[in-house]
Amino acid sequence: MQRFPLAEDIYWIGAIDWDMRNFHGFETPRGATYNSYLIIDEKTAVIDTVREGFGPEMLRRLSGCCSVAEVDYLVVNHVEMDHSGSVPWFMEQLAPVTLVTSKRGRDALVEHYGEGVVDGWDIEVVGTGGELALGRYTLTFLEVPMVHWPDSMFTYVKEPKVLLPNDGFGQHLASAKRFADELDMNVVMEEALRYYANILMPLGNQIQKTLHKVMELGLEIDVIGPSHGVIWRRPEDIARIIEAYSAWSSFQALPKVALIYDTMWHSTEKMTKAIADGIAQEGLDCRVLNISETPRADLASAVQECAAVLIGSSTQHNQMLAPVGGFLTYLKGLRPKDRIMGAYGSYGWSGGAVKQLVAAFEELKLEVAGSLEVKYVPTEEDLAACEELGREVARKVKEKLGA
Ligand code: FEO
Repeated sequence: MQRFPLAEDIYWIGAIDWDMRNFHGFETPRGATYNSYLIIDEKTAVIDTVREGFGPEMLRRLSGCCSVAEVDYLVVNHVEMDHSGSVPWFMEQLAPVTLVTSKRGRDALVEHYGEGVVDGWDIEVVGTGGELALGRYTLTFLEVPMVHWPDSMFTYVKEPKVLLPNDGFGQHLASAKRFADELDMNVVMEEALRYYANILMPLGNQIQKTLHKVMELGLEIDVIGPSHGVIWRRPEDIARIIEAYSAWSSFQALPKVALIYDTMWHSTEKMTKAIADGIAQEGLDCRVLNISETPRADLASAVQECAAVLIGSSTQHNQMLAPVGGFLTYLKGLRPKDRIMGAYGSYGWSGGAVKQLVAAFEELKLEVAGSLEVKYVPTEEDLAACEELGREVARKVKEKLGA
């Protein structure tokens, strides 16, 4: 089995989930990987495991690098099941082995597997700044609550300057290649954005704090080995993903407008096209995404990427269309900040969708740049008003971003 070294005696030993197309509710068109790492030293450590069912694949990779009996430590950075699902199985395969995790990690293991099981494991609890000397290499731990769950922790291998940040800096991207520089970087960054938008968007403040903490500690980083997707090793790629996280977590955006809509009899679609025309008249680009035709994960990427987001919906039974309502529920969970919002749509007699959208934006404390309702089918005057809404939103974006 091919070995994938990140540094001397440090190997990727994860598993590739080629078929994964929906990761707890969002689409993953390029599959996924669950990354584990092996550090061979006087004491040998495995960092994280894989989703349940992928343990044998990981074990084969591990066995291709060293004897299973040589493993002394299993570090659990995060207890979500895509990483910890195989922990009970590996505790049997690697026994005797010491499980190393944070206090919150231990608590989460108990909550997942039960006190009776976890009590039978030899566990060493570590906290921020805690170290584990392996021989030539020393592991340093950094608790990073809510990147992605309360128990999340980074492991840093000092001497080769390898950061293993678990859910941080990942992508859902199955590939036979292990390093970002071996793939089309546009694809890697597209997947990094999709991953960030759908998993980490609501956690921007915690990501910012973590980035500051890493800077304060002065960690030098030659390799970032996330727990999903490809590994970052070229200095320019490491700088690029850290800069991207800095921008995404502070809700910086491109001077673009996302028009996210659904339509019943094409009237809201006509409004969308007229608004897009108005945006173009002001020299800005936009993304037009029909909710019923677009994976929800891509809608989230557009919200992360674009400075303004306009949502359009016809009214049905006095409500917004059900696919729009579903997306709005998802959007509320993502808690976007600092976006210019707008709502529009057609109705037959009483309306309702546009008011509901505006109320939802206000609840999210987002600036509402405008709203527009049209009865039945938009007239030429209505389409002219839609164009003006597009121009107005584009002007606000340019003013805000100095574009
Ligand atoms: Fe990749 Fe929060 O698990």
